[in-house]
Amino acid sequence: MSGSGRGAGSALRVEGLRAGYGKITVLWDVDLHVDEGELVTIIGANGAGKTTLLRAISGLVPVRAGSVTAFGARRLAGLSPARIVRSQVGHVPEGRQLFPLMTVRENLESGAEYLPHARASAARNREFVYGLFPRLAERAPQLAGTLSGGERQMLAIGRALMSDPKLLLVDEPSLGLAPALVRTVFAALQEIRARGVTVVLVEQNVQQSLRISDRAYVLENGEVVKAGSGAALLGDPEVRAAYLSM
Ligand SMILES: Nc1ncnc2c1ncn2[C@@H]1O[C@H](COP(=O)(O)OP(=O)(O)OP(=O)(O)O)[C@@H](O)[C@H]1O
Ligand SMILES: [Mg+2]
Repeated sequence: MSGSGRGAGSALRVEGLRAGYGKITVLWDVDLHVDEGELVTIIGANGAGKTTLLRAISGLVPVRAGSVTAFGARRLAGLSPARIVRSQVGHVPEGRQLFPLMTVRENLESGAEYLPHARASAARNREFVYGLFPRLAERAPQLAGTLSGGERQMLAIGRALMSDPKLLLVDEPSLGLAPALVRTVFAALQEIRARGVTVVLVEQNVQQSLRISDRAYVLENGEVVKAGSGAALLGDPEVRAAYLSM
């Protein structure tokens, strides 16, 4: 399902995006688009700017130039992170960023707090999260700080789902996980997409993420240098040499 040409609306359009920190420019005129219902992956080496890109979309890093538009019309650049999450753009941050001294259940509920639309759909979303990750239901009263790495990643994804996103940004969910858990997490992302949530995934696990992607972008030194279907990039000799050679 490529999304393009199927009449799907636009979930995300980034045009000429420039962002950085202090005097450093990290992203240079980044252009990308994601149709509703797609799962699109951004691959790139350490320091390429992948996290900065997701953070700029979410309003956590200021946009210095260019535009970010969600769902065809909603202009995100310049809005606060709180306004952006209320626009139904959810973010699973790099490193999971949980509240270790709160329970699994409290971490999940924190995803819907202060968001009237998400609180209204909290019961339905909680049921979806517990169906996706039954382990979280079993561990609901347990402190998040006592979870394994895989369970923490499930909880970080679950918390973002509690914010009732239509577009979900997911930053390196496979980092540090054993292969079986990587499969669990990637299968969950496909189920999330099947539920109608558009997914933008940042990954260094190139092989497995491209396999589940409709399309992907390659980011190098803050610039998009390649784009194509997941299958096309998996077969691309330059991608194979740079990211898949062991
Ligand atoms: N808070 C910050 N202050 C200053 N520079 C930063 C900050 N965060 C990131 N950078 C720099 O911005 C560049 C891009 O970093 P970013 O975290 O976006 O890369 P990344 O592609 O996500 O890398 P990784 O795969 O290691 O997570 C790097 O050179 C990094 O050192
Ligand atoms: Mg990163």
